[in-house]
Amino acid sequence: MNHGNRITLTASATVLECGVVTDPTADAELHARRASSFGGQAAAYAEHRPDYPLAALEWGMSGADHPVREVLDLAAGTGKLTEGLVATGRSVTAVEPDAEMLAELTRLLPDVPARLGKAEDIPLADASVDAVFIGQALHWFDLAPAFAEIHRVLRPGGVVVALWNYDDDSVEWARRFSRLLFTKASHQVLDGEQELTAEGFGPFEREQFGHSHRRTTESLLATVATHSALLVAEPEVRDHLLGQARAYLHTVPETARGEFDYPLVTTVSRARRS
Ligand SMILES: C[S@@+](CC[C@H](N)C(=O)[O-])C[C@H]1O[C@@H](n2cnc3c(N)ncnc32)[C@H](O)[C@@H]1O
Repeated sequence: MNHGNRITLTASATVLECGVVTDPTADAELHARRASSFGGQAAAYAEHRPDYPLAALEWGMSGADHPVREVLDLAAGTGKLTEGLVATGRSVTAVEPDAEMLAELTRLLPDVPARLGKAEDIPLADASVDAVFIGQALHWFDLAPAFAEIHRVLRPGGVVVALWNYDDDSVEWARRFSRLLFTKASHQVLDGEQELTAEGFGPFEREQFGHSHRRTTESLLATVATHSALLVAEPEVRDHLLGQARAYLHTVPETARGEFDYPLVTTVSRARRS
């Protein structure tokens, strides 16, 4: 795990994928298809998606007004964030609606209690956790009912923490690479402009942490192939985009040969339950 360095917030980072936020009212059917697109590629997701920096997790937890002991990883997927939360020594429960993703999580983290469930109907008791973490998934939720449920399962003074891994657009080759993968389903999001509010919570605070993902050309392409915009793309569109991205990576000195660090920025938003 990369422990990450806190960095200054910039508005230039673009969402890495799941990270690509869609407007649910603009295309509800596409949004729903993307939100449920991951299970078919659960093993590839587990193998190729990045984790989250430890410093980002600790910063999130420090938003509670009391020590965090019990944590819910909501929309836990295959356990990319769960594993980091477990490494902090907290007691972690995972909730995820996709059975194939959850099966992958249980295979990798057999000791973590794992439940099928959605953010809008969380299968946990009232006031049962000190923190709710959400990795690369808040944009898939129906926000009002989801925040009402998060409020219900949190103890007073507990914290909700949403994280996203973004491409680090300050690195020219990474910025150009990510642009080559835009599809008609992709929307660029300036996270610095994304304001969150939720009833029963204090103001959201945001912080960013430097991060990276050790990759080769082929494993980086395998990573982006698990992004929902590509999962729902026509096969010929997906193959074309991945082909042009591969050709580009072969021209870049940093990525043409062997392993390299793909540069990421982890953005974290946190708010305290009143
Ligand atoms: C990009 S994955 C993130 C998984 C994991 N948190 C991570 O950081 O790798 C998004 C996850 O959100 C889940 N998801 C989609 N809609 C959801 C909802 N309404 N409630 C809870 N989870 C949802 C998907 O099944 C998927 O596992």
